[in-house]
Amino acid sequence: MKNKKIKYVLVLFIVLGVLVAGCAGPKQTAPGTPTQQAPVGAQPTETTAPLMSTENDKMTDQNSQKMIQEGREIFRHDTFGDEAYWGDTLKLHQAIAGAANGGVGGGVDPKTALAVGLKVDVDALPKDLVENLKAGKVNLSDPATTIALLQLNAVVGVKGFFDEKKNLKSIGITCAICHSTVDDSFTSGIGHRLDGWPNRDLNVGVIVSLAPNLQPVADRLHTNVTTVKAVLNSWGPGRYDAELNMDGKAFRPDGKSAATLLPAAFGLAGVNLHTYGGWGSVTHWNAYVANTQMRGKGTFYDPRLNNKAKFPLSVETGDWNIRNDPDMVTSKLPALRFYQLSIQAPVPPKGSFNETAAARGQVVFNGKANCDRCHVPPVFAEPGWPMHNASEMGIDDFQAKRSPDEMYRTTPLKGLFSHMKGGFYHDGRFGTLMDVVNHYNTLFGLELANQDKNDLVEYLKSI
Ligand code: HEC
Ligand code: HEC
Repeated sequence: MKNKKIKYVLVLFIVLGVLVAGCAGPKQTAPGTPTQQAPVGAQPTETTAPLMSTENDKMTDQNSQKMIQEGREIFRHDTFGDEAYWGDTLKLHQAIAGAANGGVGGGVDPKTALAVGLKVDVDALPKDLVENLKAGKVNLSDPATTIALLQLNAVVGVKGFFDEKKNLKSIGITCAICHSTVDDSFTSGIGHRLDGWPNRDLNVGVIVSLAPNLQPVADRLHTNVTTVKAVLNSWGPGRYDAELNMDGKAFRPDGKSAATLLPAAFGLAGVNLHTYGGWGSVTHWNAYVANTQMRGKGTFYDPRLNNKAKFPLSVETGDWNIRNDPDMVTSKLPALRFYQLSIQAPVPPKGSFNETAAARGQVVFNGKANCDRCHVPPVFAEPGWPMHNASEMGIDDFQAKRSPDEMYRTTPLKGLFSHMKGGFYHDGRFGTLMDVVNHYNTLFGLELANQDKNDLVEYLKSI
């Protein structure tokens, strides 16, 4: 014992000695000290340290470029192997192809696909097809055209898988189906991709309800296919329920659908927690969605969901601890997160709001309305832990209670103009921004004048 102690003391002295020697070492080696500064105009002397840091910077820059490109590709085109679910199991591809193309039923023609909110990426179309489309020479009432678009990888967020004879043999979905739209530059529903913009036209429920085999969904929810279809049809456009297959809650106590709006997936850098219920970081949620919702084949671990009372279906199916080999998700999480945090909120077009009123509204926002207490500019959520109780927000706690922390997260507000459809707050309960402002006015007793309210709305449209 004693010997050991002595040894430790000795080692400590040696370490201290080295440290002291290092600090007291020749001053001229310390960079940046006044004596070291080169005369103005002189070339910096070459030393290894700055060179290495330049190399390091270069590597960082190259890495960020690579990550963004990879992340974009994953966000748009990666199914994480989920075609095993949407195609092979639910047989959704058969409903899309229709009997005439080796599937079942009438099929989904491009008109129908656009009507349920699916979008077409004009940049994926060859020139001659664009010309023919312009000339009205493409049959948009034929499911074979949908298949051709899938072959071109032109349907945003939907990926077809084909056999050698070019028959549609399966189908998968990507993040882009819910979190991208297009700018309608060609025509309504056809244009350049806008990643991160929520697709508030997309009727996820109706699309899923087309699947010929919904029995696995019914089994999981301990119900029948008729009920599953009724639930899917209750969602409506721009909505999805990302917790249903964990807690089995399809409807709120008041009988309304439990689905939430598809949120914006831009302007998220600097925001600590994500989703309306603040489930976790972007990367946590990406792993959750890729595995448990899209049914990609990866790894997901969240022991908070191993809670029988709250997430009975997660416990029953083991979804709180998913392990696939090979893992088709985990290696993609770094780039995927990088990309999402790089997507800035879109800038409102000139003329889409009244500039003078917006400037006044900014003063109200940061002043007497005290909105910046929670929506702290320029992130527009609290740096730190941006979570609030339902009672604090003056709303019911149904959706909050479905999340592990049972609270609502302060929604970052940039780019609101891009998703005016579907309403505001997690379930779209407020139809307009004025409704939101009125809610706060009452809740916090702000006593805002009508002009203040109007100005506030113009400001919200401008950020
Ligand atoms: C079927 C539609 C759908 C798909 C596919 C989907 N999401 Fe989402 N996403 C949602 C919904 C709905 C929410 C809100 C969930 C909630 O609050 O309970 C959400 C939330 C998010 C958020 C949180 C945004 C915020 O406000 O902080 C991010 C980030 C996100 N999704 C990224 C992704 C990525 C990346 C993928 C692909 C791996 C993906 N999503 C796939 C529907 C979808
Ligand atoms: C106590 C914190 C807090 C204060 C103060 C606050 N908000 Fe919020 N805000 C939130 C939370 C939390 C949500 C998310 C509620 C939900 O989705 O159910 C939200 C959501 C919103 C939304 C909806 C965004 C969307 O995309 O659905 C708008 C708009 C908004 N707030 C504007 C304001 C304005 C304007 C004020 C000032 C009058 C304000 N907020 C004050 C916390 C706050």
